[in-house]
Amino acid sequence: MADFLEITRPDDAHVHLRDGAALGCTAAFSAAQFARALVMPNLLPPVTGVAEALAYRGRILEALGPEPEFEPLMALYLTDETRPAEVRRVAETPGVLAFKLYPKGATTHSQAGVTRLAALAPTLEAMQEHGVPLCIHGEATDPGLDVFDREKIFVAETLAPLLEEFPGLRVVLEHITTREAAQFVGAARAGVAATITPQHLLLNRNDLFAGGLRPHHYCLPLLKRAVHQRELQRVAISGNPRFFLGSDSAPHSAAAKESACGCAGCFCAPVAIELYAEVFDALDALDKLEGFASHFAAEFYGLPRNTSRVRLERKTWRVPETIELSPTEESVPLWAGRELSWKLA
Ligand code: NCD
Ligand code: ZN
Repeated sequence: MADFLEITRPDDAHVHLRDGAALGCTAAFSAAQFARALVMPNLLPPVTGVAEALAYRGRILEALGPEPEFEPLMALYLTDETRPAEVRRVAETPGVLAFKLYPKGATTHSQAGVTRLAALAPTLEAMQEHGVPLCIHGEATDPGLDVFDREKIFVAETLAPLLEEFPGLRVVLEHITTREAAQFVGAARAGVAATITPQHLLLNRNDLFAGGLRPHHYCLPLLKRAVHQRELQRVAISGNPRFFLGSDSAPHSAAAKESACGCAGCFCAPVAIELYAEVFDALDALDKLEGFASHFAAEFYGLPRNTSRVRLERKTWRVPETIELSPTEESVPLWAGRELSWKLA
């Protein structure tokens, strides 16, 4: 049993860093773990244009201080108003990589999201033409649907037809949670990939209700049954380059989550790579961690592989109960107060 593991420095293909006072904290945690991260644009107001994305990128870098060893890569928020010209600007702008589709109402800060994807055909055509990937929050939003079925319905009713209508569109189905999504992506045409979070690999829907209501396990898409968790684990360790690391670290204040109407998102960035190591180790697949965490996202996005390496050590330690997000807010990280058996050196 090896007691350390060295891998190429990983990338996070899906992270929420927020803005303002929290940025110093969130950016530092991601930079401590990852070489690069694709930063999600669901700020208030959302990051809808290249100019705003570059300004946000500047604030992230400023929060990190001089000579950061971390490269923020930006995604733009797709809205009903996004025009093909913005797609062309993305294609010409290094550091801005993709668009993010939030169906309106699907998740945190999705009020400005897309109401009718069909009306965006010219914009989607431009993405296809310029090779600009579309990252997708894949949940159907009809309020009458069962909340645990939203991803599977989106895959069948929206994603499958989208991929047929735009056969060259590059798509990342973000934070997949179901067997249906994993199998769909595994069998899809070239240019389709998926990210998988540590929470969806480590937990299932029982963990939302273990001994009481567990607001810090509430994220969207929701945790699903154990059979789905096992399928996500299976594809994550399969060595299939379509499945790669996207933590979906989504910090919220403890107060906003421990509330009568708590908000969705798990703050996992402080321990992300350790959490993934825990899962891969439990599945006897530590040799598959490097591809998943450090190679496959770069391959999909056409980025060079990172040249530096990180070392994980087998060592029992306890995740802190809380983390100060800003001088006025604290957050409860994923796995708070629980032990892990891997630690980033
Ligand atoms: C994310 C957030 O808080 O920004 N929340 C979440 O539950 N995952 C948004 C998202 O990725 O859906
Ligand atoms: Zn997210």
